[in-house]
Amino acid sequence: MKFLITAGPTREPLDPVRYLSNRSSGKMGYAIAAAALEEKHHVVLISGPVAITHPSGAEMVRVTTGDEMFEAASQQLGECDVLVMCAAVCDYKPAHYSPVKSKKTREPFALELVPARDILASLTSAEHDCFVVGFAAETHDLETNAARKLGEKNCDLLVANDVSRPEIGMDSDENELVIFFKDGTRETIPRGKKIAVARRLLKIILDVRENCLTKKS
Ligand code: C5P
Repeated sequence: MKFLITAGPTREPLDPVRYLSNRSSGKMGYAIAAAALEEKHHVVLISGPVAITHPSGAEMVRVTTGDEMFEAASQQLGECDVLVMCAAVCDYKPAHYSPVKSKKTREPFALELVPARDILASLTSAEHDCFVVGFAAETHDLETNAARKLGEKNCDLLVANDVSRPEIGMDSDENELVIFFKDGTRETIPRGKKIAVARRLLKIILDVRENCLTKKS
């Protein structure tokens, strides 16, 4: 089976030396890629800038901005069976890019931001045959937000994690996930090393996908 997995943050440049980004390390997406590779699946891993080693055997596509991630994912989507959108994509980007380094002054200044494209929602609004797994990193109202994103982003599964807890989530080696299904049910994968959590998530993804295919045929 062919997996398309996105991981890590995106960066939105302000000028040649400054950018907006977030704390995503890429560890969860890379662990899902590693778990899929262990099971002999083909993995295309679209990665934002991260400081970790890529899983051996993955077809790597390295990107920086959200627009680059969207382009890369759109090109690959038609070839893939499962899309796992684990990347922490910037929600906003600077309205203007300065091609020269902006000079510091003693005055306060306001940065104008515009909404960035929602890659997942854009990809799933077009016709496709992929099984779609979205992620949601939440600090509050996890259940309400996750259930909403499952529908809004046309996902088959929505995987939520509580990033307000420092021991799990962004940049940590461990995670705990709550998986929201389209029938309104949910399942928790308890706290563990990201690779162990990823192996359990992979099994759930494949089981649910299999069920969907059986129902369709
Ligand atoms: O940031 P948010 O909680 O909306 O992310 C939910 C899902 O949407 C994640 O799978 C993330 O990768 C995706 N996303 C995206 N493009 C964005 C923001 C989020 O594809 N601009």
